[in-house]
Amino acid sequence: MWKGRFKEEQSDLLKSYGASVHVDWQLYRQDIRGSIAHARALLVAGILTSEEFSQIEAGLLEIRAEIEAGKFEFSQDLEDVHMNIEAELTKRIGAAGAKLHTARSRNDQVALDFRLWLRDACEQLRGGIRSLQISLIGFAERHKDAIIPGYTHLQRAQPVFFAHHLLAYVEMLDRDASRLADASTRMDACPLGSGAIAGSTILLNREAVAAELGFSKVTTNSMDAVADRDFACEVLANLAIVGMHISRLSEDVVLWASVEFGFIELSDRHTTGSSLMPQKKNPDIAELARGRTGRLYGNLISLLTVMKGLPLTYNRDMQEDKEAVFDSVKSVSETLAILPEMFDAASLREDRALAAASDPLLLATDLADRLVEGGVPFRKAHEIVGGLVALAQETRTPLHQLDSAEFLAASSVLTPDIVIATFDLRAALAARGTTGAPSPKNIQRELTRWREQLG
Ligand code: ARG
Repeated sequence: MWKGRFKEEQSDLLKSYGASVHVDWQLYRQDIRGSIAHARALLVAGILTSEEFSQIEAGLLEIRAEIEAGKFEFSQDLEDVHMNIEAELTKRIGAAGAKLHTARSRNDQVALDFRLWLRDACEQLRGGIRSLQISLIGFAERHKDAIIPGYTHLQRAQPVFFAHHLLAYVEMLDRDASRLADASTRMDACPLGSGAIAGSTILLNREAVAAELGFSKVTTNSMDAVADRDFACEVLANLAIVGMHISRLSEDVVLWASVEFGFIELSDRHTTGSSLMPQKKNPDIAELARGRTGRLYGNLISLLTVMKGLPLTYNRDMQEDKEAVFDSVKSVSETLAILPEMFDAASLREDRALAAASDPLLLATDLADRLVEGGVPFRKAHEIVGGLVALAQETRTPLHQLDSAEFLAASSVLTPDIVIATFDLRAALAARGTTGAPSPKNIQRELTRWREQLG
């Protein structure tokens, strides 16, 4: 493969150890796009004749079609996708093919291909996030009036609408999508023309190449352009955060699908049985989605570790970058494809959720709020209600069913009228009108806003 300064054939072990084509063949579309744009710049600079340019373009498009049809044989001896395609082109069209690599190195070539690939991936991942958001909103809308207990420390805290719980994830996912959009914006600089490290003495119109490839600008330091993979780390970090959010959503599903909670029913199509226990109906999709977060964190740490301490500029270590990125993108894409299907077929057991949310202890804070309205300082009100909760527990009485004399003994503010009104669950939710809180009005506004925003 390398002639010139080498007198011996490369070791077979090095050939296979160094080959990356089994992974980076996936960059073939971007590689061919980049090569055609580069060839056009060579044409404009007078390095290629229009005849040679046409041969290169046609040859590359032919190779692309063959790869797409599964008819192209990549060779490990040719190391990576770049050399495979270039070698094949030269085999087919001869001299013109041998001119393609003028003023270009695989270092700026791979920096370009990888950016192009990741920009497409970010776009596609954002579409996947959007479908999950839409599916969560649909789930919320199907159970718009349903109330569930909200939890802190996994202890029942305060009542919320089921929709409010799901909309929390819609918000998280929205920030995830915007982080991916940010990453794309920072990737919006074309590195081609940076050469191996220091550009080239053959001056090509980099701006024209960038424009043809859909970049709004070119990179401004050739060493930075070939050395850094921060753009890939950034996407891996963003996907790790997506994984964190999805794993929490999945954990809620796992809990809700348990007999102990019994809040949601997953469809038969989206659950599995046990080979031993006939009664089992397991929420495997949610568990797998939660589990896949492990590799997302692993891939981020793996690339950060590969890049740490590398001297400028390109080092072969960096060839390890693609596997981590391809794996995270694939894993998250698959998760984003299956979760909407699962949620679309799921339903909330509204009666079970309501029974749990009707625990009067969930409105203990509301009772304290009434005391505050009657002039009691909040810390004191908290103590008074705490005393009533303790009494209810000692006497095994539901909080709202304590004797009216007990309420009045605790505070003159707690008249029977006030107590009855406070323990009206729907009224308690309607009262939660601060922006961001789950009053029915707020929830309706949020559902409409998200519907409009997500289209
Ligand atoms: N396959 C290589 C990679 O992905 C391409 C760049 C190789 N450059 C080099 N000078 N060996 O990193």
